[in-house]
Amino acid sequence: MRPRRLKLEELLKILVEEHEVVRGRLTRLHTLLERDKHAEAAEELKGFKPYLDQHIIDEEATVLKLLIDSLGREGATRAIQVFQEHREIHQLISEMQAIAETAPERLAEMKSRLAEILERHFRAEETEVFPWALKLYKDKGG
Ligand SMILES: [Fe+2]
Ligand SMILES: [Fe+2]
Repeated sequence: MRPRRLKLEELLKILVEEHEVVRGRLTRLHTLLERDKHAEAAEELKGFKPYLDQHIIDEEATVLKLLIDSLGREGATRAIQVFQEHREIHQLISEMQAIAETAPERLAEMKSRLAEILERHFRAEETEVFPWALKLYKDKGG
């Protein structure tokens, strides 16, 4: 899978829209788990996969690259920290997918953890990292 080739403004807009899609999925997951609909919750979890794949590739290959290329690893430390959370998010979703098959009663608790990590992560991207990348991009005449 490759990064989408879009203008940065356009890419960032899509990334924010995808955060909204994931927020919607989290809400549905919450409702399904509350109603003990484990099979449907497992299906809903599979829908997180596109987020994991293309979205994270774009953030790392395009947004993070721009920040590191412009500022060096030291200058881009905050963005590196935020994007390092991708590993944890990825692992948690994979664990939840596995547990959906074996011990679905544990999903509700993991879902709360996932929602917390994702909300914090999206907020950091939307309020810090993306505006920062966009400013650098524009300053460079992009
Ligand atoms: Fe991210
Ligand atoms: Fe994101």
